[in-house]
Amino acid sequence: MAEISETFRGAVPLPDLDATARLGAGIAGALRAGDAVALWGDLGAGKTTLARAILRKLGVSEDVPSPTFTIVQAYDTPGLAVSHYDLYRVKQPREMQELGFDDALDQGAVLVEWPERAPEILPPEALHVRLGMQDGARTARLTGPARWESVLAHV
Ligand SMILES: Nc1ncnc2c1ncn2[C@@H]1O[C@H](COP(=O)(O)OP(=O)(O)OP(=O)(O)O)[C@@H](O)[C@H]1O
Ligand SMILES: [Mg+2]
Repeated sequence: MAEISETFRGAVPLPDLDATARLGAGIAGALRAGDAVALWGDLGAGKTTLARAILRKLGVSEDVPSPTFTIVQAYDTPGLAVSHYDLYRVKQPREMQELGFDDALDQGAVLVEWPERAPEILPPEALHVRLGMQDGARTARLTGPARWESVLAHV
């Protein structure tokens, strides 16, 4: 796996969908071409919900379906192309080539559900978001390079 740069760490409670929307808005505000956001978490942890919140904030008004079956959905947001991946059905990391992952990262930002299926494709500067329960409450644990700290400004 690519080395994970973890100079920034944060935890965000996500008690409801509004909290997820605020975190999504914070991530959207920091997102640039070449960025990857890895969305870790078990089935139903809230990965697609957070991806949707990021895309909404970037101006996507169309439906944002879970890409479980298509594996990738591409969006042209004003100023930034965003590809939303769900790698649950990916069996070999080399499939990512056919799925246009390198091009998507060259041309825009990528949001990746189930990154554990092909962790080595993530760039070292990726923001990692781990969705899960902490002390019985939904929480997002964030790690990545220091520049991602800005995502916490308004959560
Ligand atoms: N912060 C939250 N508070 C309450 N409910 C939430 C929150 N985030 C997500 N949910 C709910 O959890 C359910 C599962 O969410 P979601 O589909 O985003 O999970 P997922 O991690 O993408 O699942 P999968 O592994 O199947 O892709 C949805 O009904 C969603 O509305
Ligand atoms: Mg999902």
